[in-house]
Amino acid sequence: MEVIRAKRAGACYGVQRALDMAAEVIEAGGRAYTLGPLIHNPQVVDELAARGAAAVASVEDIPAAARTDAAAADEAPAVVIRSHGVTPEVLGAVVERGFSVVDATCPHVSRAQAAAAELAREGCRVVVLGEAGHPEVEGLTAWARQAGGKVDVVAGPGEIPAGLYDPVGVVAQTTQRKENLEAVVAALREQGLDPIVKNTICSATRQRQEAAADLASAVDAMVVIGGRNSSNTTRLAEVCALTCPRTFHIESVDELEATAFAGCRRIGVTAGASTPENQIASVEAFLKTL
Ligand code: F3S
Repeated sequence: MEVIRAKRAGACYGVQRALDMAAEVIEAGGRAYTLGPLIHNPQVVDELAARGAAAVASVEDIPAAARTDAAAADEAPAVVIRSHGVTPEVLGAVVERGFSVVDATCPHVSRAQAAAAELAREGCRVVVLGEAGHPEVEGLTAWARQAGGKVDVVAGPGEIPAGLYDPVGVVAQTTQRKENLEAVVAALREQGLDPIVKNTICSATRQRQEAAADLASAVDAMVVIGGRNSSNTTRLAEVCALTCPRTFHIESVDELEATAFAGCRRIGVTAGASTPENQIASVEAFLKTL
């Protein structure tokens, strides 16, 4: 049985970096909290908590006993900011309460935050293309507002408010599709505007989908690993199923049954952005035993 991994699969650069940064704090013997789950993967979140990096919903939820005097910041528990980034207010609250900050904001997201703030400082009305309520979008919006900008969050061209006037700047949530950004820019131009566009899209999601589609069309079965509640993993499974009807979306190796692969000669493997390397490796190891 040949087992082939998609050219791009699993945790993206930003998520892996956040996991590594949290691991570094734990290994150095420090106490840590993450603001929200570091990754959309229950097994990994539980494992991190067991090792000493519990996820909390907000900085206020960190037990009072864990807080120390800001003056002793070297020994203060660390608060790990996840790859989506946070608002300046949240960052301020973490510092104010005397925690040390481990900023694992993905550099692509930091760049988007800086672009949003820069547009605002230049006097632009800032159009943030993204999913309202998503933590990354909340961050982008807040950084632009802190720089004095007025912000509109739109999911696509249909949500652009009427009555905008130049200067208008556009910034995108990093996981947006390029086509959607182009459609928003075109719609703004149709309103007679001349938008300043900051293309802050990260190509990791698209590259994973393209690599999965390529592989799915060349194998007898595909195994897609990742949370069922993970939208990027579900999308990967959908993309694979288009050309490979024997596509299995699983959360862990325990769900695999040898009989499902009867008659297969080549099996492809891919994984969502929240799937760490060890989970992919254990699935590959199982498949290789068939
Ligand atoms: Fe960063 Fe792109 Fe991943 S923005 S967190 S590398 S999807």
